Amino acid sequence: MSRGTCAVIDLAALGHNVSAARSAAKSSKVLAVVKADAYGHGLVPVAKALAAASDALGVATFEEGVALRQAGIQHPVLLMEGVLSEAQLQQAAEYGFQIVVHQPWQLSMLLESHLSCALSVWLKVDTGMHRLGFAEPGCALFWQQLQNSPKVKDAVLMSHLACADEAAHPLNQQQGEVFQRLCRSVRVQQASLANSAATLDRPEFHYQWVRPGLMLYGASPFPDRLAVDLNLKPAMHLQSRIISRSRVAAGESVGYGATWRATRPTDVAVVAIGYGDGYPRHLSPQAQVLIQGQRCQVVGRVSMDMITVDVSDLPGAGPHTPVTLWGPGLPVEEVAQWAGTVNYELLCQITGRVQRVYQHAESV
Ligand SMILES: Cc1ncc(COP(=O)(O)O)c(C=O)c1O
Repeated sequence: MSRGTCAVIDLAALGHNVSAARSAAKSSKVLAVVKADAYGHGLVPVAKALAAASDALGVATFEEGVALRQAGIQHPVLLMEGVLSEAQLQQAAEYGFQIVVHQPWQLSMLLESHLSCALSVWLKVDTGMHRLGFAEPGCALFWQQLQNSPKVKDAVLMSHLACADEAAHPLNQQQGEVFQRLCRSVRVQQASLANSAATLDRPEFHYQWVRPGLMLYGASPFPDRLAVDLNLKPAMHLQSRIISRSRVAAGESVGYGATWRATRPTDVAVVAIGYGDGYPRHLSPQAQVLIQGQRCQVVGRVSMDMITVDVSDLPGAGPHTPVTLWGPGLPVEEVAQWAGTVNYELLCQITGRVQRVYQHAESV
C-alpha cells in the first residue's frame, strides 16, 4: 500500500482565482507571485498555468527565475529582491528577467554596468514598511537616473504594504499617501502597490500592476474572512490515509509525551502524515481532520511521520481510508488558527516528500 500522502493541486482553481483578481482590479495588469515554490504548490507546473492567465510572474530569488526559464517558460519574470551581484545582473539580462532595485548599491551597479540589452526595472520605494526600498527623499532623483539610463527599457515604481490584511490599520492610509505623492512627483506611468489583500479590498491601491500571491492559491489573505466568501477556490487539497486503527482503553495515553489520555475506550486511527511532511506540530487541542465527510479530533502530539485521530464515531474508517488535512470542507485558514500561524506558512512548509499531483491542466 502506498502511503497516500499527497497534495492534489487543482490548476483550474488557479485560473479561477486569477480571474477573481482581474475582476477585482479590472484596469490593472496582474503579476502572479510564484515565489517559494509557488507557495508550496510546485513552481513549474503552477507557473505554466499562471503564465497562461497573467501578465507576468514574480519570484523572490534568482534561482527561482532560472528554474522557470529552464522549464521553457518565456513569460515576463520579475526578480522581486533584485540581483545580488554583477554576474547575476548580466545573467538577468540574458534570461530577460525584470529586476527590482531597492538599494543604492543595486542602482549604481545597474547604471555602471555594461549590459548586452536594456532591462525593465521596478524601483522599490519604502513607504512605511521599513523592510526594502528607497526612502522618500531622493526617490525622484533615482527615478530620473533610471529614466535617463540606456540600461533601462522601462520602469515601474513599486512599494509593498505592511498591513493590507487589516483594513482599519492606519499604516495603510499612510503608505498609500506616501506612494501617491511619489507617483505624482515623478509622474510615473506604471506603478504597483497591491498584494492580494489590497487587490481584493483597496481599489485605490491598484495602479497599473497588482501583485497577488496568496489569493491565487485560493487562500484568504484576511484573518477574519474565508476564501469561499471572497469567491476564491482553494487550489491545494492535502490528503493522506489511515494506516492503522486500534482501541485504546480509558485511562491510557497516546503518542509522544503521553500528552493525551483517553477518557473512554477510544478508537484511534494512525494517519500517515506528520511534521516531516510539513503538517504543523504545534496544534491546539481543537485540531481536526476530515474523514468520510466528518470532522475528527487529532489526539496526542503530531509526530514526524504520523498523527493520531479519534475515529470512535466512524466504524467504517480503517486502513486505506482517505483523510483530508486541509482542502474541500476543511479550510487551511482553520488549520492555521489551530497551529497558531497563518495559511501562508502552512502552504509553504509542505515538504518535498509530499507528492504534488496536478489536476485539470487542460482547463487553464
Ligand atoms: C513584493 C511582494 N509583492 C507581492 C507579494 C504577494 O503577497 P500576497 O501573497 O499577500 O498576495 C509579496 C509576498 O510576500 C511580495 O513580497
